[in-house]
Amino acid sequence: MAAEVREKAADRLTETEAAEELARLAEEIARHDVLYYQKDKPQISDAEYDRLRQRNQEIEARFPGLIRSDSPTARIGAAPATGFSKVRHRVPMLSLDNAFDADDLRRFYARLRRMLKLAEGAPLEMVGEPKIDGLSISVRYEGRRFVQGATRGDGEQGEDVTANLETLDDLPRTLPDGAPETLEVRGEVYMVKSEFMDLNARRSAAGEPVFANPRNAAAGSLRQLDPKVTAGRPLHLFAYGYGEVADGATGATHWDFLGNLRDWGFKTNPLARLCPTPDEALALYDDIAGERATLPYDIDGVVYKVNRFDYQHELGFVSRAPRWAIAHKFPAEQAETVLNDIIIQVGRTGTLTPVAVLEPVTVGGVVVSRATLHNEDEIERKDIRIGDHVIVQRAGDVIPQVVRVIAEKRPKGAKPFAFPRECPCQLHTPAVREPGEAATRCTGELACPYQQVERLIHFVSRNAFDIDGLGIKQVTAFFEEGRIKTPSDIFDLAEKDQNAEIPIAELEGWGETSRDNLFRAIEARRKIALDRFIYALGIRQVGEATAKLLARAYSSLPAWHDAMSRVAAERLKAPDAGKPDEVGPAYAELCAIKSIGMSIADDIAAFFSEPHNLSVIEALERRIEVEPVARAGSEAAQPLAGKTVVFTGALSTLTRNEAKTGAEALGAKVTGSVSAKTDYVVVGADPGSKATKAKDLGVTILSEDEWREMAGLD
Ligand code: IVH
Repeated sequence: MAAEVREKAADRLTETEAAEELARLAEEIARHDVLYYQKDKPQISDAEYDRLRQRNQEIEARFPGLIRSDSPTARIGAAPATGFSKVRHRVPMLSLDNAFDADDLRRFYARLRRMLKLAEGAPLEMVGEPKIDGLSISVRYEGRRFVQGATRGDGEQGEDVTANLETLDDLPRTLPDGAPETLEVRGEVYMVKSEFMDLNARRSAAGEPVFANPRNAAAGSLRQLDPKVTAGRPLHLFAYGYGEVADGATGATHWDFLGNLRDWGFKTNPLARLCPTPDEALALYDDIAGERATLPYDIDGVVYKVNRFDYQHELGFVSRAPRWAIAHKFPAEQAETVLNDIIIQVGRTGTLTPVAVLEPVTVGGVVVSRATLHNEDEIERKDIRIGDHVIVQRAGDVIPQVVRVIAEKRPKGAKPFAFPRECPCQLHTPAVREPGEAATRCTGELACPYQQVERLIHFVSRNAFDIDGLGIKQVTAFFEEGRIKTPSDIFDLAEKDQNAEIPIAELEGWGETSRDNLFRAIEARRKIALDRFIYALGIRQVGEATAKLLARAYSSLPAWHDAMSRVAAERLKAPDAGKPDEVGPAYAELCAIKSIGMSIADDIAAFFSEPHNLSVIEALERRIEVEPVARAGSEAAQPLAGKTVVFTGALSTLTRNEAKTGAEALGAKVTGSVSAKTDYVVVGADPGSKATKAKDLGVTILSEDEWREMAGLD
């Protein structure tokens, strides 16, 4: 039956078959998303993946009533559409042998001395450098111009990612005179840990799948078919080797070559060091291991390379690895500890997330005392019980996880964890798990204090109201004290403070200056763009991207508010209608917006059916001014449609976010790095390398004033 259904054209499916097929597709596409985004191990070609999504869309178009809450179309941002062309490496890209301890490393030195027939006391210098946990690439220059970039692939053949590599700031586009005519540089593309966290936060707010670690994020970002997507991702490059090189221009040693790379404009790792003896190599290993936790990027060991190239050539290769280099790996960042408790955290939309409370333990230089357990199924699958000894790990060096339980050490009588069926808040509202969903949710909605505080935290967060001085700690404290209960209270804070029993300046951690700064930051936000306002409301499934779509479609707050109230009223009258136009005209108009389906529309309708939410919006409307956004589609309003803009340096009249939102409202795409495809680079104070790169590429450079004029801000 299932196989037949799979073969059937979308327009020949019965309703039951369509439902079955949508369920299968949702699961299959989600599985491939995980393989692609989190494991970086896609099992199907991009074209096959596209076919799955296409089929899902066709069926949904025919049976809108069957659109699932986990529909793949509701998620914005998918894997690339088709494959990359292949590049055959002229010099294969090899891998490295591993050393796991000091003895391995000493044996490696001794073997090399033997093979090179070095007399006792004859020097054998190595260069030690961190092994960057990213993905290796090869970049080719002809006539000192960057012509091609490729991933490692299987070492013989990789993927052509030239256009994507062009978006990296760290990649020189041209080489200076004196650099070889033909040169292939090898290096590692990586993502900085903090930028990885920001990227994931943005993705999760937009309802997109998050990357498991910086390496997967770097790999996923580099393998985007649209270079503009890559341009928006913070990728960096360390150069450490070469492939084909004309006229032996590498210098006599690896150390000299690293210097040449820097002269030619590449970044090389600053921790690299010459190691004349094995003892010095091991000291470098200890030094780098000690710095590992505080480095901004992930590393997984130290690579030692024989410094003299003549020795390297003499030593040559075995199978897939050079004899002249070795990777001294760091031990896996794991540690054993005791799981003291499992607590439940409640998110903004009521999701109950179990968190392990651990006996504090150092994992790779960082003290870990909590680890996420994700959801009920995860606890059951790993059979995690309170009191268990567990192995914890920092995945990709960042997020602590419980890997497994040490069964032999389980205390007698430890019982399986009973996942709560009620919210841990004072109200004890029931928590339910919808069939087919992994998450358990509190049904208390707005009454639940946990959800209330999470909503407030979301409201002031960076991409929402972005109020300086009002972070998680302050919001939580003000909420608990009763100073801020709902978003509009934030805008009454200064006024109420005049008659407050305990004024803010007298609270612990506060003073007059910090209070004044806070009040100033709040005042500055009495004017806010519509898309930020919508995002700040924290409607389920309405992340930044969807908020922007809504703002552009409805343009002003009154228009949007009015339309959404009608959407809610229509849905209440027709709760079972299966197609947007069966619900009503306002609902159908909402669903006509690209990438908004019935599932998102229903969440918006539910939000606007809740009287408390309406009073939150109305109270805000009385206190702040929500600025309209240019309506989509009107040419006059989108003078920068199709243009790519980069902001660099410190702007004096706009925050980065304001500059970005303003540019996007005019139809421009804002990216993080300059490439030949950039149309404008807006330069503030101390602009750095992006301005230089723009100059080199002949991209139009605008001052902040020129930008304000162009964007119609004055
Ligand atoms: S040298 C022939 N140096 O490690 C020598 N590799 O396990 C090839 N890597 O595929 C590599 N940092 O992706 C070298 N400083 C470094 C490195 C490094 C990371 C990666 C590279 C390579 C893998 C080999």
